[in-house]
Amino acid sequence: MKSTIVLSLLLFVSFNIYSQDDVEKRVTDLLSKMTLKEKIGQMAQYHLWSKGGEDNIKDDIKKGLVGSLLNAGDLKTKNDLQKIAVEESRLGIPLIYGRDVIHGYRTMFPIPLGQAASWNPALVQEAARIAAVEASSEGIKWTFAPMIDNARDPRWGRIAESCGEDVYLASKLAASMVKGFQGENLSDAESIAACAKHYVGYGAAEGGRDYNTTYIPEQLLREIYLPPFKSAVDAGVATLMSAFNDINGIPASGNDFTLNKVLRGEWNFDGFVVSDWSSVTEMITHGYAKDEYEAAMKSANAGVDMEMVSLSYADNLEKLIQDGLVSEEVVNTAAGNILRIKFRCGLFENPYTKEPKVSKLLTENHLAAAKQLAEQSIVMLKNNTVLPLSKKVKTIAVFGPLADSPEDQMGTWSPDGKKENTQTPLTSLKKSLEGIAEIKYLDVLENSRTIDKSKFEDAVKLAELSDVILLFLGEEAILSGEAHSRAFLNLPGAQDDLFETLSHAGKPIVVVIMAGRPLTFPNISERADAILYAWHPGTMGGPAIADILVGLTSPSGKLPVTFPRTVGQIPIYYSHKNTGRPPSENMLGIPIGTPLDPKGFVSNYLDVDFTPAYPFGYGLSYTKFEYSNLQMFPNEVKNKSSFSVSFDLNNIGDYEATEVVQLYVRDLYASVTRPVKELKRFERVTLKPGDKKTILFQLSTDDLSFINNEMLRVTEPGEFKLWVGGDSDCGLGTSFFITE
Ligand code: BGC
Repeated sequence: MKSTIVLSLLLFVSFNIYSQDDVEKRVTDLLSKMTLKEKIGQMAQYHLWSKGGEDNIKDDIKKGLVGSLLNAGDLKTKNDLQKIAVEESRLGIPLIYGRDVIHGYRTMFPIPLGQAASWNPALVQEAARIAAVEASSEGIKWTFAPMIDNARDPRWGRIAESCGEDVYLASKLAASMVKGFQGENLSDAESIAACAKHYVGYGAAEGGRDYNTTYIPEQLLREIYLPPFKSAVDAGVATLMSAFNDINGIPASGNDFTLNKVLRGEWNFDGFVVSDWSSVTEMITHGYAKDEYEAAMKSANAGVDMEMVSLSYADNLEKLIQDGLVSEEVVNTAAGNILRIKFRCGLFENPYTKEPKVSKLLTENHLAAAKQLAEQSIVMLKNNTVLPLSKKVKTIAVFGPLADSPEDQMGTWSPDGKKENTQTPLTSLKKSLEGIAEIKYLDVLENSRTIDKSKFEDAVKLAELSDVILLFLGEEAILSGEAHSRAFLNLPGAQDDLFETLSHAGKPIVVVIMAGRPLTFPNISERADAILYAWHPGTMGGPAIADILVGLTSPSGKLPVTFPRTVGQIPIYYSHKNTGRPPSENMLGIPIGTPLDPKGFVSNYLDVDFTPAYPFGYGLSYTKFEYSNLQMFPNEVKNKSSFSVSFDLNNIGDYEATEVVQLYVRDLYASVTRPVKELKRFERVTLKPGDKKTILFQLSTDDLSFINNEMLRVTEPGEFKLWVGGDSDCGLGTSFFITE
């Protein structure tokens, strides 16, 4: 008997022993005991300054008027407030604590855009898992991540938090992150609820200016912006966040179409939706609600269950119900959605977090994973064979504002990362090259925006005495992220000048760029000997970069976003349409400054090539990969059936390395024009020098579907093209047909 009890207890602790039916029963039971005020209370998310501070918050928690807190302070504060909710409120409903655990908690992983450059969903999942383990040990049960807004505009500062421009890659990574945060079971003490954000279209901000208006035709919405969210929902995401932006005239936080019709109606999402920070009351500023009363009405009716920070629900919902403008059913549904997730999270059984006996932060495994992901996120854009650094290199001159800037390399949204835990390239290089080569460092530019060039001369002197120059350039963390959009994408401050000055020292120059977005650096692209794009690589960015520079690892990252040559090309993305007058390759390199000769009436620029600086999917390696023997079985495919694509990948270089093989398709003629290329499969493949592997991808004709003019997802029979290769410009292709 005793052992049965122990076994049930164990089962209780380690699995969510409640079936879906049990949870629904508990939700219904609890709702039946709640007053209207208490239900509305669940719909309010406070922070520590709400209502004038902690004393008032405690009072409200006691009265059952608070469902959640974000950024609720240290573990003790969280447990103390939870105690009030559980022991002093009438029904003892626990709070759920939320926080932005975006790309790591204490162990900072690369920014999400960097993680996307790894094209490694499994490792990205592990990173999210580690973030969950660390964050949950400090009482956090809910993260406002993943951010899966499609981002085609590098001016937008929040591109750093995104998975980039591609719907397929972002959808894969969305599912990985959700699974990582939430684990096998939400009630596991080390799992935290995820929140897919910002629903929806936030990344389409006009002009790349944060919070700006968006216009997204329904076809594009359903084809590009919605699928990553659908993927998160299919992966079981517990919550979604409604966005700040106005979408086609209706703010996303009051949008009946996206929330009620699509999310609930079509996808059957049964978790809860939280607004973004005051995005409910910002609908007044948008001009969509005349006051908080109307804002609360519109958001609640549209299906936003919980209001973050602003308190229009708390202040108005009772009256709105009395006035017949919001039905009690809406409140029951919203409170029920929130309670459902609280039950699934096991908060009623385990409302408190015990301080772990051994810290779960920054463990050896966590740091190793952070290093691995940083390595895989780094994209080599150019290499004139200077990399990896030869053993003959004995003196290395190191410069640049990002060489030793621990805070900056963590990137945006690192509220819990600490600079003292961060290893910079300078310290890592010194360590790994100790006794092998001498590092001569000069702090030439204090930060990325510094314009003072007074130390340039000393830098040149040092460079002249060295075998190679390593220049760490880029953007400080504060130049990307929320409300940090830029209209110019060049390297800020005097960084371009520093490169130019040092380029005359007669030494090879390797440039490592750390940034939260694609930048434009034409002079460096043309004249540097090697370029590594390291994004903001996180806590272990230093050792990851050092290992690549010295050749312990070959770079394997690939761009998750197109790099423009200049801001004027934006928006520029690989899956564009063809137009009726596409430009052709022989127009590349037309002499700039010949505006009287447009080289034909085609979709081109007079003053810059139409192609990007670096295409989507691009990234070099220390070895060379060769693609051959592309085959399809069958090569006439019946609609609604599967087919296979195979090809050989050869490592014909001298290094063991990993290639991200990519498969793209094009539907040549359809009832709605289709993009010139769409990513449909990818895989990381590691090969030793001289080794060959046959890669096999299984696809189905559903993979070739699109949203037609009736807003239905269809695959239309006809002629298609398919390519495989190492980037979106890849050349090994074939044609095939889909028949009825
Ligand atoms: C951001 C969200 C974030 C929230 C809470 C907002 O300003 O847009 O992404 O989760 O703040 O910090």
